[in-house]
Amino acid sequence: MRRYHVTTFGCQMNAHDSERIKGMLESLGLGEAPSQEGADVLVFNTCTIREKPDTKLAAYLGDAGARKRQNPELVVAVGGCYAEAQQERLFELYPYVDVAFGPGSIPHLGEWIGAGGEAPRGRFGTHEHFAGDLPMHRERRFSAWVQVSMGCNSKCAYCIVPAVRGREQSRRPGEILAEVTRLAADGVREITLLGQNVNSWGRDLRSNLDTEFGELLRACDAVEGIERIRFTSPHPKDFREPVVTAMADCAAVCEHVHLPVQSGSSRILKAMRRTYDAERYLRLVARLRDAIPDLALGTDVIVGFPGETEADFMQTLALVEEVRFDSAYTFIYSPRQGTEAATMAEQVADEVKHDRLERLVDVVQRIAAERNAERIGRIEEVLVEGASRTDASVLRGRTRRNTTVNFAGTAEPGELVDVEIEASSSTTLRGAQRTAVAA
Ligand code: SAH
Ligand code: SF4
Ligand code: F3S
Repeated sequence: MRRYHVTTFGCQMNAHDSERIKGMLESLGLGEAPSQEGADVLVFNTCTIREKPDTKLAAYLGDAGARKRQNPELVVAVGGCYAEAQQERLFELYPYVDVAFGPGSIPHLGEWIGAGGEAPRGRFGTHEHFAGDLPMHRERRFSAWVQVSMGCNSKCAYCIVPAVRGREQSRRPGEILAEVTRLAADGVREITLLGQNVNSWGRDLRSNLDTEFGELLRACDAVEGIERIRFTSPHPKDFREPVVTAMADCAAVCEHVHLPVQSGSSRILKAMRRTYDAERYLRLVARLRDAIPDLALGTDVIVGFPGETEADFMQTLALVEEVRFDSAYTFIYSPRQGTEAATMAEQVADEVKHDRLERLVDVVQRIAAERNAERIGRIEEVLVEGASRTDASVLRGRTRRNTTVNFAGTAEPGELVDVEIEASSSTTLRGAQRTAVAA
């Protein structure tokens, strides 16, 4: 049997695309190799959101080239956002790459790899089908990603995603619900709805279907067997009242929102073309907290966007202090070729960016640690995932607020159990199982 290995970089959408890539290869009769060693087909599903993933990929492809010199039969395929950004140039940079394909061309992967390399070497910019219609190799038994849209219509000045993922297209609600129902029948208890701008879902369907994301949440909530619903990432500008009330009303929708703010300076938000200012973001946070008691909030923050002054950065720190996020991903601004911000004057010096990141991380971690410490003594509902990554005698799972908990207990993966929280760090909780809730 020919065997494949897929290496995945980037966001949850890419991780989910890899489930489809694997499903496609398996439907062609290939089996999965546990590592690159011994694989006949090497696939890299790439990310290009910042410079770092590009550099990381270069090292991986260097290794793949060396393997290929020893085994000329080896097929090297590069998919995802970096491939889409580079197009045919990829073959000049890495001549030993056999096949390259963008995120919109996953449905065609089988034709080439199955055909043994007779097909075109590269395929980009199609985006005509949802990968959601393809066979799938699911990575997790009780949790699943569900793609609700592809692409992004925003114009955030720093971001390469619209260039590599195309215009936003919503998947039909009937297809989404059929998939959710299938997953539930398969034992899945938690779904995460995925879109680059997940809560603008439905807008492009409106010519013949009057719907919006809140309605989709309600429909998923009604699917028997689905105990937890998450979604990522919503854009603050599209977080409308019907979504807030759907979150408040639906028992399965978790008390957790990842709400990227990017900056606390309204001046920088404007230059980023985020289309909201700091005040509007804070009003949305207040509304969410009012409607959804005990809500956990996560965010993304960029430091060192072109023109960001010390005063702008201080406003970011102030916003982080004011909101008190439960978690935050922090990024150094990375110029991406072809984006508006890459050619802006006033690029911020590297040492200034690093200094700001360090100061931001200090604040983010202190607040996250304080937020988690507030959980001590409470009982949290935990969806059991398996053994702890660091200590096999301890179980691991997640709370509805999306915090990882390591706990002493006897539950099986996929069960929902009550755990009393006894200790905390900035990223995890520790506790002990109390009672088994309905299995
Ligand atoms: N579609 C999602 C994810 C975008 S990428 C969303 O809009 O939320 C995830 C995060 O990467 C962004 O929220 C942003 O904080 C960060 N990011 C995107 N482009 C970047 C760049 N050029 N430099 C640094 N961080 C970037
Ligand atoms: Fe990028 Fe902005 Fe679209 Fe998110 S909303 S994918 S940050 S352009
Ligand atoms: Fe995701 Fe990276 Fe593409 S963050 S959308 S894999 S550029």
